[in-house]
Amino acid sequence: MTGITVRVPAKLNLQLAVGPPRADGYHGLVTVFHAVSLFDQVTVEPADRDGVTVTGEGADRVPAGPDNLAMRAIAALRTAVPEAGPVHVTIAKRIPVAAGLAGGSADAAAALIACNELWTARLSQQQLVAIGATVGSDVAFALLGGTAVGRGRGEQLTPALAPATRYHWVLAFADGQLSTPAVYAALDRLRESEAQTVAEPDLDAALMSALRSGNAARVGQRLSNDLQPAAVSLFPALRKTLTAGLELGALGALVAGSGPTCVFLAASAERALELAVSLTGAGVCRSVARVSGPVPGAAVVP
Ligand code: C5P
Repeated sequence: MTGITVRVPAKLNLQLAVGPPRADGYHGLVTVFHAVSLFDQVTVEPADRDGVTVTGEGADRVPAGPDNLAMRAIAALRTAVPEAGPVHVTIAKRIPVAAGLAGGSADAAAALIACNELWTARLSQQQLVAIGATVGSDVAFALLGGTAVGRGRGEQLTPALAPATRYHWVLAFADGQLSTPAVYAALDRLRESEAQTVAEPDLDAALMSALRSGNAARVGQRLSNDLQPAAVSLFPALRKTLTAGLELGALGALVAGSGPTCVFLAASAERALELAVSLTGAGVCRSVARVSGPVPGAAVVP
């Protein structure tokens, strides 16, 4: 039997509201996820024993054993498909590692879709979402795609009914990485040092209304990320990148998730191209990519 290949998108958080730390170490969130056209590709094939090969962007920094999130997702799926055989997984990465774009969760989601198909297990999307959520907070959204509101750890999803507007984004990849737990811990420290009372997170109604209207300028004004001050405190160069993008005409700017990627919204595909060229010229990031969204979640490549 031949392999199954799945393409899976990176995510942005158009809003990321973070509550106080919970007893289990996670933080309660309200977030607006948005899947964009930067894809990893994951192929699974029957093999004599389990294995994983990673190629592409940042491949040397991805664990190539059972700690790999795709392998962990497959191990979790096997509990529901006991007769499943060993597989070799090949991950072709374009989503940078530890960049705030949920690349690891994306690979886990892709592995679930691919093995569900390979093993003709016929688990529903709902079942895959439940299994994915045990592997990482962003896996459920990588299965769903589009634009969706996430609650809980981010794994409880409600699709957002947005019009068919296509948003044009420029991603500025940083020369370095940030660890997600370290950024959450820095946020807790910042809030403690400023003696902030941390409210339960709330969905930004103005952002949702802007998304419903399909007006990119309004969406740009409502982008927000509670993790941004923490990410900038750990990676001060990001401040310069964000300022440069806004000065170069972006409709809005923010750090992607826990960073360090910076995200800029452009008014059109042409503006995104101009912005990407200018940001490269300004020397405020390692490299840039133009993407658009929303795009669908993980899906088998025909
Ligand atoms: O779920 P995931 O493995 O992606 O989370 C990585 C880390 O990010 C967690 O161990 C936790 O430190 C932090 N996190 C959090 N609250 C969330 C999601 C992640 O504190 N809602």
